[in-house]
Amino acid sequence: MQREQWGTRAGFVLAAVGSAVGLGNIWRFPYVAYENGGGAFFIPYLFALLTAGIPFMILEFTLGHKYRTGAPGILKALNARFEWLGWFQVMISAIIAFYYVVVIAWAISYVYFAVGQSWGDDSNAFFFGEFLGLTGDNAPSSLGGLQWHLLPPLCLAWAATYYATYRGVRGGIEKINKVLMPLLFLLVLVLIGRIVFLPGAVDGINWMFAPDFSKIWDLKVWSAAYGQIFFTLSVGFAIMLSYASYLPEKSDINNNASITALMDCGFSMVAGILIFGALGYMAMAQDKALTEVVSSGVGLAFVTLPAAINLLPAPGIMGPLFFLALVFAGISSHISIAEAVTAGLMAKLGWSRARTSTVFCGVGFVVSLLFITQGGLLLLDLVDYFINNIALLGSCLLELLLVGWLCRLEDFRDHANRLSDFAVGAWWLICIKYVSIAMLVVILFGNILGAFRENYGGYSNSEILFMGWGMIAVMLVVAITINTTSKKEASV
Ligand code: PHE
Ligand code: NA
Repeated sequence: MQREQWGTRAGFVLAAVGSAVGLGNIWRFPYVAYENGGGAFFIPYLFALLTAGIPFMILEFTLGHKYRTGAPGILKALNARFEWLGWFQVMISAIIAFYYVVVIAWAISYVYFAVGQSWGDDSNAFFFGEFLGLTGDNAPSSLGGLQWHLLPPLCLAWAATYYATYRGVRGGIEKINKVLMPLLFLLVLVLIGRIVFLPGAVDGINWMFAPDFSKIWDLKVWSAAYGQIFFTLSVGFAIMLSYASYLPEKSDINNNASITALMDCGFSMVAGILIFGALGYMAMAQDKALTEVVSSGVGLAFVTLPAAINLLPAPGIMGPLFFLALVFAGISSHISIAEAVTAGLMAKLGWSRARTSTVFCGVGFVVSLLFITQGGLLLLDLVDYFINNIALLGSCLLELLLVGWLCRLEDFRDHANRLSDFAVGAWWLICIKYVSIAMLVVILFGNILGAFRENYGGYSNSEILFMGWGMIAVMLVVAITINTTSKKEASV
């Protein structure tokens, strides 16, 4: 059977941008930038974009285009002993799919609540305390008590992903992205157009762009920049490999990859302006310093911003628009994560698309219920930390080592250049083979040491052991087992 293909170049680029532009741009980027010196963060960030992000995106588009199968198949084609890395990536995607959807579910319910502004004046207490279920002494392991109010939005989010992956590349994924992406850009334009003219907004925005150069020498800032780049561009964990595997024979690679990466970066900047504009306004309205109103992590998008939106003129309109933007950005990314898993499983099991997506979304839905229990938010936080800071970066590093040092990287460059609008030169080889790898080694080892030295987020030893390291260990064992069995199959 012929492999599915994208209908148009624009359709592919929109889907790739849809994957890249996600909750990470709105929910993660602003607070990562904030925690790492505001404006000073842009230098490491842009450096990471140019030396790691764009080259990695070109690489994954090339590999997908060349080998035309899911991530495990691609890594296997590169080197039979590395099929496990493809499965490891598929598992990273699967796990992200399980909790990312819950953040979308929050956003969906916020759209609903924001319409009526039914969170009242004390939005902080409402959201953190009652709504997200962050009350009292929960732990990631307190898994009782499903929060039923999150069930309908969770079903809705899974339904969208199920529809897209069930209908397939052209009839599902491409079609949805062609609607969601223009809508998302429109929403953001409207929001920005309103927010930047509010009193205080410019102070917030200036603050974000004001460089604090003393931070530039801090390794943690660089580490945060590289970590954010891989996550935000969806590279290194099966996603762009799968999307690119549906490219038609005659496709540009280098230009499409650069457009995708730059659009994502641009979107992050815009989201930063939006969010810090709103915070600047809030600081002015409450007569506080900006640093007093900013919070980090989940709290920024889901506690502080609702509070800021509450203060805006016409909060009943701005609120729903903002959270709708989050929902659109999130769903198009979630579809791509689910497709990465679906493509890998389809190729391995020989199942139909319909069957594969039904099984994955069904199982995924059940697993994601874990994250809407009492301790769900903390579990999400803990899992997200280990996935991003250790599993994901490890996977990126191994993929680059494999491609850069065990394969002939020049062949991939030539493959990409043959069809592309413009050619990449030696800088591409250097970035992949040396710069990105060196940065990843330093950062990953820093993260691993850090994780041993101090329990992340003050979680208990057993939680860190079972839900952090244990999870990664299980993923590795499963991936390696699949690899060994398929080598045996091959040799029979
Ligand atoms: N790139 C997406 C974002 O910035 C995140 C993402 C993660 C997408 C994992 C797909 C998979 O939010
Ligand atoms: Na992103």
